[in-house]
Amino acid sequence: MKTIIEPFKIKSVEPIHFTTREQRIEILKQAGYNPFMIHADDVLIDLLTDSGTSAMSSKQWAGIMDGDESYAGSKSFYRFEEAVKKITGMKFIIPTHQGRAAEKILFTITGGKGKYFPNNTHFDTTRANVEFTGAEAIDLLVEVGKHPEIRADFKGNMDIAELRKFIIKTGKENIPLCMITVTNNSGGGQPVSMQNIKETKSVCDEYNIPLFIDACRFAENAYFIKMREPGYENKTVLAIAQEMFSYADGVTMSAKKDALVNIGGFLALNNEELAMKCRNLLIVTEGFSTYGGLAGRDLEAVAQGLEEIVDEHYLQYRIRSIEYLGEKLVAAGVPIIEPPGGHAIYIDAKRFAPQIPQEQFPGQSIVSALFIEGGIRGVEIGSLMFGKYDSYGKLIPPPMELVRLAVPRRVYTQSHIDFVLEIIIEVFKKRSTLKGYKIVYEAPMLRHFTARFEEIG
Ligand code: F0G
Repeated sequence: MKTIIEPFKIKSVEPIHFTTREQRIEILKQAGYNPFMIHADDVLIDLLTDSGTSAMSSKQWAGIMDGDESYAGSKSFYRFEEAVKKITGMKFIIPTHQGRAAEKILFTITGGKGKYFPNNTHFDTTRANVEFTGAEAIDLLVEVGKHPEIRADFKGNMDIAELRKFIIKTGKENIPLCMITVTNNSGGGQPVSMQNIKETKSVCDEYNIPLFIDACRFAENAYFIKMREPGYENKTVLAIAQEMFSYADGVTMSAKKDALVNIGGFLALNNEELAMKCRNLLIVTEGFSTYGGLAGRDLEAVAQGLEEIVDEHYLQYRIRSIEYLGEKLVAAGVPIIEPPGGHAIYIDAKRFAPQIPQEQFPGQSIVSALFIEGGIRGVEIGSLMFGKYDSYGKLIPPPMELVRLAVPRRVYTQSHIDFVLEIIIEVFKKRSTLKGYKIVYEAPMLRHFTARFEEIG
């Protein structure tokens, strides 16, 4: 097997900024030890997110120039609509400025007090948009997905037996829709199998509950199906994606991931009445139904990105580069979610820094150390992002404490990845010196974005 190379050459470059260790210690302190508060110019390799951070292709940039900025009926909308229809097969395509805007519209219409939304795992904005309406967001991930150390092919699957139990207990009339997130971002970017999507659909059908797919990383998921699920090895990624969506009644998508753009999203639906309600709300909150909070040029870039994302040379390189980083980390003994998912490496903070109790945010401590050692920015996905408080104010921790290092699409090269590897291993060697953190400020919702910390001891 030859080296899998980046399937592109570079036409435009952007310098990255070097800082000293002393500078980074001060920068982090000023930021309240919250990576969201660091100026991006002070980051050397930014693995905060794979969202909106893709490098666009020359054809996407050409599309930017070609965008039609008509208020209504822009030709860019029709190109966008066709591209989304080709992949999802949905009848009604509603552009939004990003994923959470699609979620906001969908849950404002379907949610409310007394309603429940099951999902394999809700992403934080999905959960927040469900909860904002007074409804409850329920995670029903398969057991194996909660164990970082166990290797399995489809750790993002929905627990079908639990879903059925949940529907019976809750009453189908209280469940406006069921969702499945591909890949499962909050659970390690792990894929969902076709079999599991089919079984989820069949349970939903039994109780007449529509199935929605949160499709942010649909192409990465489809590629994993091709690699791992018997019967799909000879199908194209496009055909696999089309089959995945054929089991859905609706789709929300942040185009900032697998549509390779810096902004954009959509809601795609089969139900005309729901589509009408969503469009009406879209016009109030986002814009007219042929631009939905985007410029015509953005719609062009999404349409082009959706064509490029199903390219299998791209996906092979994409999945391999994450796998490569994962393999080397495992060889060095660094505990990560295994096998690595599609867009990120997730360090298992509980095993990495076992001396730090969950209420002192072990993940946050690793995030800080990676920045100080190498100017690398990652993000905690654990008690900070998903922790709740009980009535005594004691932390109710989520099942996993993770640090996500998300890799932007088409942005970094192999030597950047090798550098990241060296820094993680360096921090791992010093892991016994890592200290816990306490929160000194937090917002009532999505606190991880703005919280401030102090180091303990
Ligand atoms: N659903 C999933 C699975 C996501 O990962 C995200 C965003 C969204 C919905 C919301 O989309 O940002 O366009 O509003 N995830 C980013 C991340 C922010 O870093 O993982 P958005």
